[in-house]
Amino acid sequence: MNHIPLVRTSRREFLRTTARIAAVTAAASSSLPFVHAAGSDLIQVALIGCGGRGTGAADNALSTVRQGPIKLVAMAEVFDEKLKRSVEGLSRKFPDQFDVPPDRRFTGWDGYKKAMDCLKPGDVAIFATPPAFRWVHLTYAIEKGLNVFMEKPVTVDGPTTRRMFELADAADKKNLKVGVGLMVRHCRGRQELWKRIREGEIGDIVLMRGYRTGGQAANTGPKPANMSEFRFQVQRFHSFLWSGGGLFSDYNIHQVDELSWMKDAWPVSAHGTGGRHFRGNSVDQNFDSYSVEYTYPDGTKMFFIGRHMNGCHEEFASYVHGTKGAAIVSTAAHTPGRVRTFKGHNLTRANMLWAFPQPEPSPYQLEWDDLIAAIRGNQPYNEIKRGAIASLVTSMGRMAAHTGQIIQYEDMLNSDHEYAPGLDQLGEDSPAPLQAGPDGKYPVPTPGQTKGREF
Ligand SMILES: NC(=O)c1ccc[n+]([C@@H]2O[C@H](COP(=O)([O-])OP(=O)(O)OC[C@H]3O[C@@H](n4cnc5c(N)ncnc54)[C@H](O)[C@@H]3O)[C@@H](O)[C@H]2O)c1
Repeated sequence: MNHIPLVRTSRREFLRTTARIAAVTAAASSSLPFVHAAGSDLIQVALIGCGGRGTGAADNALSTVRQGPIKLVAMAEVFDEKLKRSVEGLSRKFPDQFDVPPDRRFTGWDGYKKAMDCLKPGDVAIFATPPAFRWVHLTYAIEKGLNVFMEKPVTVDGPTTRRMFELADAADKKNLKVGVGLMVRHCRGRQELWKRIREGEIGDIVLMRGYRTGGQAANTGPKPANMSEFRFQVQRFHSFLWSGGGLFSDYNIHQVDELSWMKDAWPVSAHGTGGRHFRGNSVDQNFDSYSVEYTYPDGTKMFFIGRHMNGCHEEFASYVHGTKGAAIVSTAAHTPGRVRTFKGHNLTRANMLWAFPQPEPSPYQLEWDDLIAAIRGNQPYNEIKRGAIASLVTSMGRMAAHTGQIIQYEDMLNSDHEYAPGLDQLGEDSPAPLQAGPDGKYPVPTPGQTKGREF
């Protein structure tokens, strides 16, 4: 097995974090009394991270009102402008459900605590910050007995994935419901496709393909003089591996997850390549092209191509090929999926066997309909572990391309390189987890030269 000797977390740091997670897990054994049993109960929501997706997720949450009353009561965001825009949009669209007066709008790095302090056990916290903060925010939510919706990815490295596994168990012990924003799993068309594949409509899966190719993305820098290094790296999370897992994790996790779902297995290893061809003076850590071969336990391969270069073929789709035929899992982006099956491997109309009827509902709404139904109906609902594995195997592909090595699942999971140790203690004046070199640039991956770690 390819050993990855990665060490960053100090022992004292490791012990402090471990003790905190252990405390949450132990406290979780006193089970939470079930709340929101009746559809008439008011569910209160706090939004943490009020950017594009957070505002969208709050919109989806409030749109479940036909299941029972639900209100947004608190917001936390570290950029004033983002908070303002989100407040304007949500208060205009939901005048009767937006109940966030100025004293329940929080802008500090500890705002997540203050926003969750406005809730009562059984209410819902939304986490739509960059993924680095997930374990910090989830730990506090579990302490408070809150249900959670958190966006993908939920981790960017091995140590925080292991922490997520522990938090998943702690959430279960408290009977908490947790949704993870891999919304395609809630798409009714993809669910029907999954069933048809299990029933043998396209035979045994022999190959899968995923593509996310488009114009230049996540180029960044240099840092504006009036912004702290920490704040800069949080704001540009698509550009830095510690805060967002970079372009690869943030963009490609959906295809890795949806194809693994169709295969009904997780990849055990990844082999990858990529390069930094046209990034000019950009200071981010990304490659602009990636090609990753994932291997599943039975030897089946999934090939993934990610590229962000202007003027090239653009595609945002995923496909499954079986011994009898093929299927389209995603046609163009996430919704509508326009899922179809075909006889043979030429994906023509003449060969089409089945197509999910159009128009189809948005999975961004369906994932919320399902979460709130589980909360109101007290059904088991915990997507943490699955979301953490999806995040881990995506990171495994990223690491394979960035190091030029074949990375095994166990290596990625057991790696001790935590990209942002002590994040629960960091803030405005802390040294950022990533330091620029004398030329003002941050370390970028150098495959073959830096083998045991990504940078
Ligand atoms: N499921 C999907 O299809 C989908 C789509 C888009 C984004 N996302 C995910 O949602 C997350 C956010 O993405 P986005 O596009 O909304 O980015 P964004 O930059 O628009 O929003 C993130 C917000 O979080 C704020 N923030 C950062 N750290 C914070 C902290 N510690 N406390 C409070 N606020 C903080 C930022 O200032 C920003 O406003 C990412 O994980 C991304 O991958 C998922």
